[in-house]
Amino acid sequence: MPKPSFIAIDGPVAAGKTTIGRLLAQRLGYRLVDTGAMYRALTWKGMRLGIDLQDEEGLSRLASSTKIEFVPAIGYEEGCCSVFVDGHDVTTEIQNLVIDAGVSLVSKVAGVRKAMVELQWGMAEGGKIVMAGRDIGTTVLPQAELKIYLGASVEERARRRYLEVIERGEAADYGAILSELVKRDEIDSQRSISPLRPAPDARMVNTDGLSPAQVLSQILEMMGES
Ligand code: DC
Repeated sequence: MPKPSFIAIDGPVAAGKTTIGRLLAQRLGYRLVDTGAMYRALTWKGMRLGIDLQDEEGLSRLASSTKIEFVPAIGYEEGCCSVFVDGHDVTTEIQNLVIDAGVSLVSKVAGVRKAMVELQWGMAEGGKIVMAGRDIGTTVLPQAELKIYLGASVEERARRRYLEVIERGEAADYGAILSELVKRDEIDSQRSISPLRPAPDARMVNTDGLSPAQVLSQILEMMGES
């Protein structure tokens, strides 16, 4: 295939979208947009302001009045971007179990999705982009020349998330992480707007038992870049 300029990576919680997206973007010299971080950033702000996460109108208003930006981090090659909300760096604060528990509620609100998708269209302008999320191949970038849908067993995904939580120094309970992950997948795939599902033309990649480098080389092979 000719080298794609728009690459969509979708999949459920902890399927490896950000890790693979980052490796792929580095390899191609593209920008990575981790759209999950945008919904997380908004959830962070909503919680901080004490907005009820069931208050759809309040969340929609919040979404259209919030500035979310990705700023190249120091050590860009290793880490891609920092996430800023209204000029405040929230990169670390949005990756925790409290945000995990709230973000699926925020991201199912129509007004929130509309605002985030508009921002994502702006970020994708000009191409040379890898965008990771849930609805990138179906809704945000249906024109993407390459769409990858990453999957892995629920146990493998919970194990990865468990190791990440330990690494961050948080208390981790595998059973609780597994049930939270199942719950989040369910909300993400049952919601009425842009539910998590593979685009009809997505290439399915099962990452069970594969290292990130092995997944990357499968994708590069699809592109004829290996
Ligand atoms: O990929 P992640 O775990 O950081 O995503 C956090 C949440 O954001 C996820 O539970 C669903 C939501 N999300 C979404 O609805 N659409 C996207 N394009 C990306 C994430």
